[in-house]
Amino acid sequence: MTTTGPIRTIGIFGAGKSGIAIARQALAAGYNVRITTSGPAERTALVAAILTPGAIAVDGQHLADGTDLVVLAVPLRAWRELPLALLAGRIVVDVMNYWPPADGILPEFETGRPSSEIVRDGLPPDARLVKTVNHIGYHEIEELARPAGSPDRVALAVAGDDTGAVALVSQFIDDLGFDAVAVGGLAASAVLQPGSAIFGANLGRDDMLAAIETAGQRS
Ligand SMILES: NC(=O)c1ccc[n+]([C@@H]2O[C@H](COP(=O)([O-])OP(=O)(O)OC[C@H]3O[C@@H](n4cnc5c(N)ncnc54)[C@H](OP(=O)(O)O)[C@@H]3O)[C@@H](O)[C@H]2O)c1
Repeated sequence: MTTTGPIRTIGIFGAGKSGIAIARQALAAGYNVRITTSGPAERTALVAAILTPGAIAVDGQHLADGTDLVVLAVPLRAWRELPLALLAGRIVVDVMNYWPPADGILPEFETGRPSSEIVRDGLPPDARLVKTVNHIGYHEIEELARPAGSPDRVALAVAGDDTGAVALVSQFIDDLGFDAVAVGGLAASAVLQPGSAIFGANLGRDDMLAAIETAGQRS
């Protein structure tokens, strides 16, 4: 299945801090949301009923059913446990970070390659991976969301090799309440990672672009 848009239904692997914040913003923007934890749908439903009312709790094998976009919001140490074959042809949004204090040392992410390139290589070849949302704290996803045109609107960088997927995800980001700033392909996605100039900085569009340019000049 190839999504050409518009995106109406999203699935989120992970009903933790970031998955819940994304789900809540997406629900507020009118999206249909499916969500899962590592457990059975009944257990996820207990969380969803309180924290993401309106979201449909499912088990992982059914998370992608009927979705236009799937978000990976699990700890990076767990992503290979997901039913990745179900992501064939899907737009997949990677909000994950390699965070050794939480993940432990993961040798495959110690190579210096952007983590999203490694994730992409583990997905079905026709999955369309886009990295974004990873560089903002989970609690800020709801706190900092603003309507389009607000002077204090924060930007989220978007990186991906499939320009059609980047455009659709950028619209999704806009609907969540943030300016989307396309920064290039996954090879450029290190600019979103922990330790980068924009990670945790919560910048507006122009300041983000300037920070990325300045960091590029220094490296
Ligand atoms: N926290 C932040 O501020 C933030 C911001 C941006 C990006 N991120 C990134 O987002 C990712 C998730 O972080 P988080 O803070 O949201 O983590 P978290 O609060 O620990 O939540 C992780 C979620 O993933 C689920 N999960 C784990 N293994 C799974 C599996 N095999 N199948 C399905 N679901 C599974 C967990 O379900 P169970 O409860 O069943 O284990 C839980 O719902 C990380 O890569 C992190 O770096 C975090």
